[in-house]
Amino acid sequence: MQDVKNISEIREDYREDGLIESEVHANPLKQFERWMQEAIDADIHQPNAMTLITATSAGVPSGRIVLLKEVDEEGFVFFTNYRSQKAMELRENPKASLVFLWLPQARQIRVDGIVKKTGADVSDAYFKTRPRGSQIGAWASAQSEVVAERKELEERFAALEKQYEGREIPRPEHWGGYTLVPSTIEFWQGRPSRLHDRIKYEPGGNKEWKIKRLAP
Ligand SMILES: Cc1cc2nc3c(=O)[nH]c(=O)nc-3n(C[C@H](O)[C@H](O)[C@H](O)COP(=O)(O)O)c2cc1C
Repeated sequence: MQDVKNISEIREDYREDGLIESEVHANPLKQFERWMQEAIDADIHQPNAMTLITATSAGVPSGRIVLLKEVDEEGFVFFTNYRSQKAMELRENPKASLVFLWLPQARQIRVDGIVKKTGADVSDAYFKTRPRGSQIGAWASAQSEVVAERKELEERFAALEKQYEGREIPRPEHWGGYTLVPSTIEFWQGRPSRLHDRIKYEPGGNKEWKIKRLAP
């Protein structure tokens, strides 16, 4: 590995303003919304891109980026193919994690929880808002399966475009939403001299949350 030099010298000293127990919201989803709004206001590129980590029932993990599309009172909603690798893993093991990274603000959010499918109404409503090309793409691509060559996908896409010309594209049954319902959420704020803030929310009973500070 000699082509990339000096990785060990990349270093950043983080910001002064921190995350204080008395100032965070009692509800972590509300605290998340607060940070998301700040990320949007700071023009962070695609702040809704998050790493989703799933695992097989044998505990073999896999991670990939998906886009957060909604935060509701239950949790974090994303959309995908119900026959993809992640979907197969979620079927056998619904435990999963999310990680957000907003480098310009030196912020990381980690979420662990249980994933469940959203209602078909939620998937239908979101599918309708997608650009036509993405709607056709959901039909054209058997996500996570092997493709012999790119041409195959392009031909399938063109055939579907023709098939649905002038018509509304229905949502494929194999495409829809999931909600990750959090069991813990940790907010990480980078601070100078590696004395970062880590505030972790855990269930406190009665639908309340307990807040702990963790060592960086
Ligand atoms: C910025 C970005 C956003 C993405 N958003 C999604 C998404 O919302 N849903 C999705 O299924 N895949 C999304 N992907 C593609 C996934 O990372 C992944 O390639 C795909 O879902 C297949 O994953 P799997 O084989 O583990 O199931 C995105 C990738 C990137 C880089």
